[in-house]
Amino acid sequence: MSAPGRPDVGPRVAADDVRRLLRRHATTVTVVTALCAGRPVGFTATSFTSVSLRPPLFSFCQDRGSSSWPAVTAAPHVAVHLLGADQADLARVFATRGADRFAPTGWRPGPFGLPVLDGVLAWLVGRVTHRIAAGDHTIVLAEPVAADCGDGSPLLYHDGRYTGLSSRRDP
Ligand SMILES: Cc1cc2nc3c(=O)[nH]c(=O)nc-3n(C[C@H](O)[C@H](O)[C@H](O)COP(=O)(O)O)c2cc1C
Repeated sequence: MSAPGRPDVGPRVAADDVRRLLRRHATTVTVVTALCAGRPVGFTATSFTSVSLRPPLFSFCQDRGSSSWPAVTAAPHVAVHLLGADQADLARVFATRGADRFAPTGWRPGPFGLPVLDGVLAWLVGRVTHRIAAGDHTIVLAEPVAADCGDGSPLLYHDGRYTGLSSRRDP
């Protein structure tokens, strides 16, 4: 089956096979935050990536059905936090529907009043330059305008669980 208006691209990969492949894809874990009428909003995202160096650009993808989507889509600036290896609980709470996501952690107003989380590995604030609809998500592109970076090891997500660089699996 080919998509309307596109040349035949051949058989598609079954959704289960795509999911199995993506479980092999290890990512860092971030929390994206924004302001909504002065109220902090945020969500866990593994879709963060570096896009360009000249000019510097980064991106993340957001589900347009998520509760924080209206705030992020209206925000001129966003903050992205790279979580440290010991911050799996923070990742869980920022991915939990209905949770008071900012209650368990310290945070402060950063550049443009954006919520900046305490104790993260690094954070950067970006000015949103593009929003590109892609399926049920939107790719958000932003240029860094402020950043801070600490030391430590990153939290990773792989095969459906949080892990770290040095973890080993039993055979
Ligand atoms: C490991 C992990 C990675 C995630 N990555 C993304 C992501 O990149 N983009 C996104 O929109 N949601 C991502 N989510 C889902 C959001 O964190 C959140 O659960 C979702 O937006 C639902 O929020 P809501 O209940 O407030 O609507 C991820 C969830 C987990 C557990």
